[in-house]
Amino acid sequence: MSKSAQKILVGVAWPYANGEKHIGQIAGAYLPPDIFARYQRMVGADVLMVSGSDTHGTPVTLQAEKEGVPPATVIEKYHLLFVEGCLKMGITFDCYTHTDTQNHWDVTHKMFLRHLEYKYLYTDTQRQLFDAQAGRFLADRYVEGTCPFCGYEDARGDQCDNCGRLYDALELKNPRSKLTGNTDLEIRETEHFFMDMAKMNQPLLDWIGHGKEHWRPNVLNFTRGQLELRELRGRPITRDIEWGITVPVAGYENKRIYVWYDAVIGYLSAAIEWAKISGNDEAWREWWDADVNPNAQIYNFIGKDNIPFHTIIWPGMLQAYSVGDEHLNLPYDVPANEYLTIGGEQFSTSRGRVIGWNTVLAEYQPDAWRYVLTALAPETSDVEFTWDDFRERINSELVANWGNLVNRVMGFAYKRFDGAIPTPGPLDDVDQTLLNDIRSGFESVGALYEAVKLKNTLAEVRRLSQRVNQYLNDKAPWHSIKEDPAAAATSIYVALQAIDWLKLMWAPILPHSSEQIHQMMGYDSTLFGRQYTETVADARGAHVVLRYDHNDAIGAWEAETLPAGQALREPSALFIKLEEEAV
Ligand code: MF3
Ligand code: ZN
Repeated sequence: MSKSAQKILVGVAWPYANGEKHIGQIAGAYLPPDIFARYQRMVGADVLMVSGSDTHGTPVTLQAEKEGVPPATVIEKYHLLFVEGCLKMGITFDCYTHTDTQNHWDVTHKMFLRHLEYKYLYTDTQRQLFDAQAGRFLADRYVEGTCPFCGYEDARGDQCDNCGRLYDALELKNPRSKLTGNTDLEIRETEHFFMDMAKMNQPLLDWIGHGKEHWRPNVLNFTRGQLELRELRGRPITRDIEWGITVPVAGYENKRIYVWYDAVIGYLSAAIEWAKISGNDEAWREWWDADVNPNAQIYNFIGKDNIPFHTIIWPGMLQAYSVGDEHLNLPYDVPANEYLTIGGEQFSTSRGRVIGWNTVLAEYQPDAWRYVLTALAPETSDVEFTWDDFRERINSELVANWGNLVNRVMGFAYKRFDGAIPTPGPLDDVDQTLLNDIRSGFESVGALYEAVKLKNTLAEVRRLSQRVNQYLNDKAPWHSIKEDPAAAATSIYVALQAIDWLKLMWAPILPHSSEQIHQMMGYDSTLFGRQYTETVADARGAHVVLRYDHNDAIGAWEAETLPAGQALREPSALFIKLEEEAV
């Protein structure tokens, strides 16, 4: 099943550098791409997983004002916090950077100027809310009010947190300034650049109209609905703010590029940065340049509030860019997730209803989180998180089904067979059937990873693991060892062989414990490569980049034969069982 040479770009939503992320965001946007990337690397694909901290926009400046520090300070702090979370949880970005780098500014300026040259940008006056007390236009999140669609009272100027819809801030009812609380707001005119989305309507309909059978129905239907509803409207892509990427046009010195225009460009700029720091400036083209490799597959992993930006606006920007002499690949799939909820409601940083990612990683094993967040994966609907359920899934699924199986079999082999993998006698039907069943997982489990159905993947690997438990109940080598040691040796060998294959099937979801099993099994190789950070300096300063070195990791997706006689390493427990008071 080798996919060597298949280039897969795993683009991950760029988290705002404005606070600790919560486990809902991890379950929705950050863990799934890592699982997918690890699987694809195992089958031999050439994966480039990129993202970075989104350093622009009002979410960042509001936080800076709240903390009373410059945006750069807030960015550095939360960028490093996110990187630390990725290192602990094992989110293996090939390049995790941020958007306040010279490289990202350059790529953004280049795209802006091309859009301008190809006439996909126009200027127009826009009516905007103006807070006279503050002397400022109220861009995006600087204004709040009542949602024009659902009546939610704390809706933001750009998007409603309750119903998820996008609108113009002028449509808000009872708008109030977040700067001063002023409700007596003026409407003033201001000039901005607009992306001519109307021109993109038909090209996008053509694109979405074929070869999208693999898309999740909710993503496809939403996108089609938006494109068919009415002609897309021009979107303003500059703002009257001081923080952000400058507009490369004379007369616009006091305005900045809108965060949602530059952030999506990050998928491209991060690949370019990766190429530069890897020492081959043009290497990014293998994933992005349609003239070099039209068969590369670009996946965008996001939460559902980001769907229109990734299935309409960004593909529209790419198509508009590609009418010239450079042609870029469009997204191949956009596996967007719904939300984790708590107490029936969305996690919300601003309303203090969150479980912080870095906070909980300090207390529980990364694989415990990876397991539970995958078991819960909100792929087709919102899913409720509870601490009781968390403990239950760790104790009666992860520990009982998989951890105990591994430790029981490996502990027994280590003690009773001189610390080595026993040599089996001839296999009977029961042995053969078990091995055939487990081996078939390379097909069934692989197909599920491939289709990004991670919740079902986990269920399938768990089912196969359970088969080994049944097998051991039937064979009971712990009893037969006395009267028939050869039979016990065969059963233990067969169980170890099954575990060795299952270890690979679990590996994308549970990389740390799979690596541990691999070591205990006596191998000298590693399943995965190495994560590290690197400081990159450019004209805008220095920034920390999270990297991944695939190295000589084996991670093969193959049913190799377990070498009898191989010395085991002393087994140690894989997972910690959680007491009631622990959570
Ligand atoms: N920063 C945005 C958010 O957290 C996501 C940006 S995704 C990108 O909602 F594609 F624009 F990068
Ligand atoms: Zn609403």
